[in-house]
Amino acid sequence: MTEAALQSAYRVLQDSIIHYRGEPVGTMAACDPEGLVAENYQDCFIRDFVSSAMVFLADGEFDIVRNFLVTVLELHNRRKADAGHELVSGVMPASFRVIDNNGQETLHADFGDKAIGRVTPVDSMMWWMILLGVYVRVADDHALVERPEFQETIRQILQLLLRESFEDFPTMLVPDGSFMIDRRLGVHGHPLEIQVLLFATMEIGRELLDSSKENHALAKLALQRRRALRSYLRLFYWLDLERLSEIHRFDTEEFGDGTVNMLNVYPESIPDWLVDWLPDNAGYLVGNLGPGRMDFRFFARGNLLAIQFGVVYAEQAQAILNLYEERQDDLIGSMPVKICYPALEGDEWKLVTGSDPKNAPWSYHNGGNWPVLLQTFIAAAARMGRLDMAQQAMDQAMKRLPDDRWPEYYDGRKGRLIGRRANRYQVWSATSFIMSHKILEQPELPGLFTPESWWPKKRPEQP
Ligand code: GLC
Repeated sequence: MTEAALQSAYRVLQDSIIHYRGEPVGTMAACDPEGLVAENYQDCFIRDFVSSAMVFLADGEFDIVRNFLVTVLELHNRRKADAGHELVSGVMPASFRVIDNNGQETLHADFGDKAIGRVTPVDSMMWWMILLGVYVRVADDHALVERPEFQETIRQILQLLLRESFEDFPTMLVPDGSFMIDRRLGVHGHPLEIQVLLFATMEIGRELLDSSKENHALAKLALQRRRALRSYLRLFYWLDLERLSEIHRFDTEEFGDGTVNMLNVYPESIPDWLVDWLPDNAGYLVGNLGPGRMDFRFFARGNLLAIQFGVVYAEQAQAILNLYEERQDDLIGSMPVKICYPALEGDEWKLVTGSDPKNAPWSYHNGGNWPVLLQTFIAAAARMGRLDMAQQAMDQAMKRLPDDRWPEYYDGRKGRLIGRRANRYQVWSATSFIMSHKILEQPELPGLFTPESWWPKKRPEQP
């Protein structure tokens, strides 16, 4: 049974490989022979490819990952600025494709200019950096990262992310839909997923910079930012019963230094569903935090990556996994894992999503269940020694995912229905399954993707 499922998943991966001038350079987002829901799913998405890359790297197939890293690096300079905008270097496309014009192949990148909603992805440059770090380490190819164009691009990305903003927080302000959730869902501001990726990008970026003098100040800044960011996330994004009680009794409208309720979050904004839902022994990082705004929704990817990347303390990581254990029906249901909980419904859905039918309550980004998150869940659970939970999630996925032909997402409170507009043969659903299987066979595998243990000989941290 497992063997057949794995074979089927590998077939999806193989069928999705994109070649450019004879070399494999990426994988399509989906490859359903009966047609795709959206035309751009034949593109190679940067964030989707990371899932494929993990499988290739674990299988010792390094060329495609290396070619991808080089290709995206070359493409990132092709972004065009709109009139009245200064072009900043470092932004990477959401996706790219190969266009064949009478045997002449060219690469075309989408920087969000062709995507729905026209939002430029913020996470692409972060995923590129993270993948570069993993690749260099696993393939032991330090020569790649020492190339001047790689050093230059790493610098550009760090400089872009470290730029002065209009804000006072270590977190980063982004527009709605600028990461995996790439449509309106009220995830503008300081969404958790972006902050966790930012943390990893700072850590890996500074490790990948060569030790030349010109890099010292930048590396130091990246280190300071990632430290400040981690402390801030651990403290201010964290929510458990104790913290919720504090927020419930918060003073508001406080001025000056030494304020407790620094962001002026009103206790009245605590949603009804939360108080009885949050178990005694559990906690999580909230979805978003900004002036006067705490988004109490639970977002799976940000929380699970926070465990995987070592953003949260070990006790916090265990508390997040306790939440999964206690609220399994809501957060895992029939198909691991739900992207966020709870869904926006009624007027809130209308106002926040702009009445987006694809993001209807308990569908797609708005509370759908996404098999790609299985791998992140299993990696996080394995890292914390909760192998029983990891195995249970895998067994659950096994029951349906291969027979359902690797759908992109599932709908419903418990994720029992194949997503209304989901693609079949979605590549990251298949690669997530393969990787999950590998992690369960080899629980130390997620260590490879942990920034904390990034370098074989880790340099001592500069103060
Ligand atoms: C959807 C997802 C996005 C993904 C893309 C391709 O747009 O929201 O995260 O990269 O599909 O799979």
